[in-house]
Amino acid sequence: MAPATPTTRAVAPEATSVPDGSVARGDPPISLTGVTKVYRGGGGVRDLSLEVGWGEVFGFLGPNGAGKTTTIRLLLDLIRPQRGAVRLFGLDARRDAVAIHRRLGYLPGEFALYERLTARETLAHFARLRGGPDEATVERWAAEFDLELDRPVRALSRGNRQKVGLVSALMNEPDLLVLDEPTVGLDPLVQRTVHQRLRGAAASGRTVFLSSHVLSEAAEVADRVGLIKEGRLVAIERVAEFRARPVHEVEVRADPAAALDALGDLKDVTVRERIEGGLRLEVVGSLNPLVAALAALDVVDLSVREPSLEDVFLSYYDGSAR
Ligand SMILES: Nc1ncnc2c1ncn2[C@@H]1O[C@H](COP(=O)(O)OP(=O)(O)OP(=O)(O)O)[C@@H](O)[C@H]1O
Ligand SMILES: [Mg+2]
Repeated sequence: MAPATPTTRAVAPEATSVPDGSVARGDPPISLTGVTKVYRGGGGVRDLSLEVGWGEVFGFLGPNGAGKTTTIRLLLDLIRPQRGAVRLFGLDARRDAVAIHRRLGYLPGEFALYERLTARETLAHFARLRGGPDEATVERWAAEFDLELDRPVRALSRGNRQKVGLVSALMNEPDLLVLDEPTVGLDPLVQRTVHQRLRGAAASGRTVFLSSHVLSEAAEVADRVGLIKEGRLVAIERVAEFRARPVHEVEVRADPAAALDALGDLKDVTVRERIEGGLRLEVVGSLNPLVAALAALDVVDLSVREPSLEDVFLSYYDGSAR
């Protein structure tokens, strides 16, 4: 007999919650199983399954409208799925929302602030709500992010408002950080500080889930990256693995039919498309077999370049994960 599928297990109620809402560290901070939420207009997420572990930074990547914010809102129980199970720390996202939110820091993609309060008052307010850090801690965070504390929020630039949101999510050092495009509007120096802080959180065993539409950013900070397109998770990879894999994009100008003939059987060479007067190829690993095969052809031109990170990511997925 086949063992019970993960799906059946994940939707079983009361698996791990205890009366005071605490859970064993063993339960994954994030677990989505077959989660579907489709809006009236047809957008949303479909059949999303994903587990994020302790001490992990997970980058959730996708173009505009792909479903990143929808997923984050499902995690926060701000919206509810039509199908599937959303569990955090082994607890049910809806039923155990109070216990979950005590352990969670959240940065929405867009958020409103009390315009008349200063940044200091705003952060003190959030700190009080959570029984959170004292004033000295708030000051330390503000200094690290180069945030001016004594100006009213209405006078802050977009980037500085973003910093207020970030500090309020980070300063409690929660077990799980869920951040919707955290570095939007921040200058590169502050971006780096944020990344360092997130790496530090992971190093101390906490978990970070962040969305981004820039792979280079996600790859810089994340251990794993998931790619969502049109509401579906299409790839998940370890960053270290797809980075370590040498891939080149090669354009050969030569008679396409002869080139196809010569290259047809080469392992690790994929013909991506026909281009004017030749072929565009993707080569994994050594270029030597390709160069040897090309020697038999009348090559008019040859160009080799590193493809975009996105292409590497997708080619890695095509090649190894199915
Ligand atoms: N409240 C809503 N009502 C109807 N459709 C919605 C709603 N919120 C989101 N959508 C649709 O769901 C899809 C996913 O939207 P979502 O906001 O999750 O994308 P995203 O990946 O966060 O995009 P972005 O990078 O632009 O922030 C889009 O097609 C969007 O139009
Ligand atoms: Mg969004």
